[in-house]
Amino acid sequence: MDSKPTPLIAGNWKMHCSLSEAKALVDGLKAGVAGLKDRQVLVGPPFTALETVARTIAGSAILLAGQDLHWEPKGAFTGAVSAPMLRDVGCTHVIIGHSERRQFFGETDETVNKKIAAAQTAGLVPIVCVGETLEQREKNQTMTVIEQQLRRGLLGQKGDAIAALVIAYEPVWAIGTGKVATPEQAQEVHATIRRILGELGAKEAAAACRILYGGSVKPDNIDELMRQTDIDGALVGGASLQVESFVRIAKFIV
Ligand code: PGA
Repeated sequence: MDSKPTPLIAGNWKMHCSLSEAKALVDGLKAGVAGLKDRQVLVGPPFTALETVARTIAGSAILLAGQDLHWEPKGAFTGAVSAPMLRDVGCTHVIIGHSERRQFFGETDETVNKKIAAAQTAGLVPIVCVGETLEQREKNQTMTVIEQQLRRGLLGQKGDAIAALVIAYEPVWAIGTGKVATPEQAQEVHATIRRILGELGAKEAAAACRILYGGSVKPDNIDELMRQTDIDGALVGGASLQVESFVRIAKFIV
């Protein structure tokens, strides 16, 4: 029997938080999620706050992620940050291919593919984001788009590596809009993602891989989302910026 992977509740802070705001937020989270069992909690602050947050969460179970990385370990790439640098500051995870990176910064499935490999080489767990736009959903292209993003982004990834990945399904139309996918809509795509992962790796690897839902996750919709068979956690934007809402999301009840 396949057992469900440990749920992961991840906060994507995007371009928010001064150092003092970051410290206050993570101090509150530390207290709020202390002792929570059977789930993992992660925060993804902007690069400038990583060190402050790393120091603040030391000794707690909260995990730390960068929001992006460059695929080269070092070099003349002004403005970029590498996987070894993220490791050095205390990250365990890195978000890759977020739709905002795809939309505003030229991220493609090919750069996603290179970034995944770079993260793995440095010992970081990639959180790979996929998702369709509203136009693509309305044209009934959701599954084709997701399949293409996965097959191209994960090219060369095999069994064990796939098991260790985190995939985040984030329908672009649900991000920051307050329009959450229904649990059924999300479940349908998550099941498809797991099937594709099974074809790329093995069925066991696909079962072990965590598939998060992202897009307007809030305290009042998390429980229902987490009840779905193939939803193993959440990638939370706006609601991760307030202690109370993120703690409630981390304390989801199924
Ligand atoms: P949101 O963002 O929760 O604010 O919709 C989610 C994300 O972009 O990861």
